[in-house]
Amino acid sequence: MTVTALIVAAGSGTRMGGDVPKQFRRIGGKTVLAHAFDALASHPRVTSVRVIVAPDQLELAREALAGRDCGELIVGGADRADSVRAGLDAVAEGIVLVHDAARPFCPPEVVDRLLDALRQGDGAVPVLPLADTLARGRGRLDAMVERSGMLRVQTPQAFHAEDLRYAMDEAGGAAATDESSVMVAAGLKVLTVEGDPSLEKLTTDADWRRAEALQAAQMI
Ligand code: CTP
Ligand code: MG
Repeated sequence: MTVTALIVAAGSGTRMGGDVPKQFRRIGGKTVLAHAFDALASHPRVTSVRVIVAPDQLELAREALAGRDCGELIVGGADRADSVRAGLDAVAEGIVLVHDAARPFCPPEVVDRLLDALRQGDGAVPVLPLADTLARGRGRLDAMVERSGMLRVQTPQAFHAEDLRYAMDEAGGAAATDESSVMVAAGLKVLTVEGDPSLEKLTTDADWRRAEALQAAQMI
């Protein structure tokens, strides 16, 4: 069965700021998007990688991916879900690995764990436990939230293309931060595998500094 990675890179990176969206900034001389692309494209079980970008960032993306076999770039939409949908529309069947371009480092073992787990479920996602105490509140603590059993969900996320299409149709465009949310809402079985700290999403400047340090220390 084919495994198509869909890298969503059509965001504007407003929380991080900078001259260009975060996926086009460089870590260790290579753009974040190219890091994410190479991590998936070099995996022996990944058949192909498609990249979804904003209409006004096609040129930036072509530059970032120069020399790589990325096929035709796919134009994304206003919300992340629209971008995923555009990618999914370009994939007829098989397994899809939906991945944020803002997660530059993806260990190959995570992809192996996802594809192995997918044999038993409708989807598979990498997760990490929470380390901090969890609470609700703003300015003051209103209520503490039981932490045990809580998980942080990362990408890449593995699904059968037809299942994800069904779940997204059921969701009808309702806002969701990832695809596991719509799969679970549609009653499908999404299994968890061990995630990885290096898969942390780059959202703020602090995340950026951590990623640079990781790369500089040759830990990636
Ligand atoms: N993304 C996308 N299309 C959108 C919005 C987001 O493809 N319309 C992608 C981003 O490029 C990123 C991933 O979804 O790789 C995760 O989104 P996020 O971290 O929120 O990135 P941005 O939306 O770019 O950042 P911000 O929310 O701070 O503007
Ligand atoms: Mg966003």
